[in-house]
Amino acid sequence: MSDWTVEDIEKLGEQVEAEAAAAPDLQALEQVRIAYLGREGRITAALKAIGKMPADQRPAAGKAANLARQRAQQAIASRRKELEAAQTRAGADDQLDVTLPGVGPELGHRHPIMIVLEELCDIFIGMGYEVVSGPEAEWQALNWTALNYPPDHPAMDEQASFYVNDEVMLRTHTSPVQIRAMRARHQPDCPVRQLDWRVPPMEVLGHCRCTPSPVRVVVPGRTYRRESVTLTHHDIFYQFECLLIGEGISFADLHGTMATFVREYFGPNTRIRFRPDFFPFTEPSADFSINCEMCGGEGCRFCKDSGWVEIGGSGLVHPNVLTAGGYDPDKVSGFAFGFGVDRLAQRRFHIEDIRTLYENDMRFLRQF
Ligand code: DAH
Repeated sequence: MSDWTVEDIEKLGEQVEAEAAAAPDLQALEQVRIAYLGREGRITAALKAIGKMPADQRPAAGKAANLARQRAQQAIASRRKELEAAQTRAGADDQLDVTLPGVGPELGHRHPIMIVLEELCDIFIGMGYEVVSGPEAEWQALNWTALNYPPDHPAMDEQASFYVNDEVMLRTHTSPVQIRAMRARHQPDCPVRQLDWRVPPMEVLGHCRCTPSPVRVVVPGRTYRRESVTLTHHDIFYQFECLLIGEGISFADLHGTMATFVREYFGPNTRIRFRPDFFPFTEPSADFSINCEMCGGEGCRFCKDSGWVEIGGSGLVHPNVLTAGGYDPDKVSGFAFGFGVDRLAQRRFHIEDIRTLYENDMRFLRQF
């Protein structure tokens, strides 16, 4: 065909664009390429024909043929890209190997500390106690002042605590919840319930218009102290606190309650030992130990050869603390005790390094 017109050639450009865009797959696209740009292709033929044209038509026909070739190349290249991309997407799906073991969702585990805390709470719930909590960022006034710490007590040293600002700190023990629990047991219309926590302890009693209910609570909770983190110490730890307030509560009640608790938790043959101690918020105060279950009291490395393992502190609630809670020390009395939970979890599960309790490493937690 040597009688090509410029129009014919332009049409080829349009046709190849339409056919390329409609090609359903790479094979069909290759056919389109051969049909237009192959050795026998129609655009190739048009280009060949130009040399045989009359000289005056050649420039226009040549230009049209080059343009048609360009359009063909572009249309084919862009369709190839589309088809290849689609193939890769489909290919990725095809590569699913159904014989591979599945990746199951990792199930949560109870943390060893939570296991211990729940057991402790269960024992005290069984004795009629209520489980309460308080904030970890606490008023300094509750962490110290309301608990009868004198203003210059060394425990308040910045070295030993994390302070948020001049009034708020991370609580160093669960004991401030004693004050919260006491004030919450005033009658609903008593002003003590609405009092600012920072009101000086001795003033609180002056606001009370009621007879607050007895208190019987335990407080599991997280506490903070500014310590270097080592194998045996952490700056985050858990405490468990117990507070009972009512008429005529004595040290005998404290002893009876603790003896019941340690026998339930550590075993029926557990014995308890009190030794005089000092805490600003109890009077008298005593630390308490249990006989070492590792050596049966003979002495071993767990009890440092003493036969006893120290658990925590206890005592009768100091009158100033009762006052800070809005209770009249002439009418009621109470006992309190508190101890660290991490050590219990460590002994119970034979955890050597206390830091593993706070790393949340699944290889560790999966064991519980
Ligand atoms: N709050 C004390 C501490 O962190 C522990 C403690 C001692 C709590 C005696 C008490 C108590 O309730 O009566 O070291």
